[in-house]
Formats: sequence, structure tokens, C-alpha cells
Amino acid sequence: MTETKQRVAVTRLIPSVGLQLLEEHFEIEQWESDAPPDREVLIKLLQNKDGALTLLSDRIDGELLDMCPNLKVIGNMAVGYENIDPEAAAERGVWVTNTPDVLTDATADIALSLILSVTRRIVESDKFMRAGKYHYWEPRMLRGTGLADKTLGIIGFGRIGKAVAHRARAFGMKIIFTDPVADETNNAKRVELDELLGRSDIVSLHCPYSDDLFHLIDDGAFRKMKNSAYFINTARGKLMDEKALVNALKEGEIAGAGLDVYENEPAFQQELAGFDNVVMLPHIGSATHETRDAMASLAAKNIIEVLHGRDPLTPVNKPRNT
Ligand code: DGY
Repeated sequence: MTETKQRVAVTRLIPSVGLQLLEEHFEIEQWESDAPPDREVLIKLLQNKDGALTLLSDRIDGELLDMCPNLKVIGNMAVGYENIDPEAAAERGVWVTNTPDVLTDATADIALSLILSVTRRIVESDKFMRAGKYHYWEPRMLRGTGLADKTLGIIGFGRIGKAVAHRARAFGMKIIFTDPVADETNNAKRVELDELLGRSDIVSLHCPYSDDLFHLIDDGAFRKMKNSAYFINTARGKLMDEKALVNALKEGEIAGAGLDVYENEPAFQQELAGFDNVVMLPHIGSATHETRDAMASLAAKNIIEVLHGRDPLTPVNKPRNT
């Protein structure tokens, strides 16, 4: 008698290493597109599946889970999982997993890239060259801000925040941070948020998003920052009030910004594109070949573990029935 294979949905095109792992064990149905499936298509895709590999733009809530009663595991291919309701999943006996650690270095690298890009006016300088404006070397041309002895304020001192601190120290920066749980380490000093905003030459966000942190950085927060300070966000767009950011830039309340994420991604406040002192990336924090392969593999392995009756490697909830 042939054994029926368990069925797994993959909600997007993903690096082949992840898909191959899943194909070794399960029957796969994949949404073969880079664009997210709409809600109905997503539900249809996940119905009658035992597991699903999802991305951060797939909203998985109690209503969807009720329509997909066979699901036992959602392997989110991201460290953030605010697209999923892990409690609702736990109540319905569904594991939710994420992909921590494997993207820490890549994301920290992008934060440093943004810091260097805005402080040293890299994108502006590149445009200047391409526009044929480099006629002679001038002592006052395209001057930026140096990092040595400057203070980096890190909001959220977890894995990525610490990796950013590690890199910034190599540039001679002093580190202060706010975090509800992390300890002071390696000369990084814990301070309250207001003090961090007031003292930092660069403020960089590295905390996970939850509803209570919506617009953590708002009008008032930008006003507390030094006029010479730069704001960096590689975490989540909803942590900042994007309209307030535009206003802070217009009013000269801050010196510039480096963004990899947006409040209503992929949309963004169009006015941002008009500032030379803003560098914008399309959420590429984890976008290296190595890291995206590792994320796809880890998401797949979590699904394999659960569907083979074991606990997942990197869970974010614990189903009630386990
Ligand atoms: C995540 O993993 O949460 C990122 O935003 C995408 O790498």
C-alpha cells in the first residue's frame, strides 16, 4: 500500500535549497510568483495542507486558521512574525516558527551600510559623478559626518542590535541602548529612550514590532533628537511615524535618514524620495545569497521536524495540544 504524502504549501518563489528540502518529504503546492497571493488565494493554497512556508506579507490569523484545519505548522521565512497570530495558532494546535540567527550578520551589515551611506553621502556622491559634476577636487565638496567618537543609540539590543554595535565599535563609535531585557555588555550602556534620543548622533532601530510599539518614533521622538543626528530603520516600518519623519526632515530636526523598511510597505511617503539626505532600500536587510538560502532551509527544516512528529528548531509559540 502506498503511503499518502503530507502536503505543504509554499506561498512564494523561494531559494531552491528550501524547496528541495521540502520536496524530499512532502507533496508541494507552490504559489509560483514573487507577488503575494491575495487573501482568497492564500486561503485556498493553505486549505488541506499539513504545513505552510510563508513570508512576512502573508497574514495568518485565527479566521484563516479556522478555514485550514489540517495545518500543523507555519514556517515563516523571516525572523519577524507580526504577520502571524501565534496565540491563535497555538490555540488551534499549530506551531509557528521563524528564522532567527541566520540573518543577523546580513541585517547588521545593511544597517552599517545605511549609516555610512547617509553620513558620508554615498548615494548623493554617486549621482554627482554620473551627472558629470566632478570637475575638480574641492576641500568643501560633499562633506559628510565622521563616525569616530560619535554615539550610536541602538533601540532593541537583541541579536541584530548587538551585531550592529560590534561593527560600529570598529568604527570607533560609543554605544548606548534601550532594551527591556538585555544587559549592558562590552561598554554598551543602557539608558532610557528619551536620553538615547537626546544623546545619539545616530539612532538605529533594532526591535521586533508589536502593536504596543506602533509609532515608537513619532513627532515628539524626532524633536528630541539632535539636529545633527541621523535616523536608521532596518527593523520594521510601523515602529516609526513616516509622516513625522518627513516633517522632521523638512524642518531640519534631524540631519538625514537611512531606511530599509516603510510604514505601509511596499508603499512609502513619496516626499522621502525628494531628500538628498535620505537613503532608501527595498527591505534588503537579509538579501544575500547565503542568508536567503539559510532562511529558506531553516523554514523548511522547521516544517519537516513538526510533520515528522518532533518539536521545531526555532518555534515562536507552543501549541496547546503538545
Ligand atoms: C525578517 O526576517 O523579519 C526580515 O524583515 C526579512 O529578512
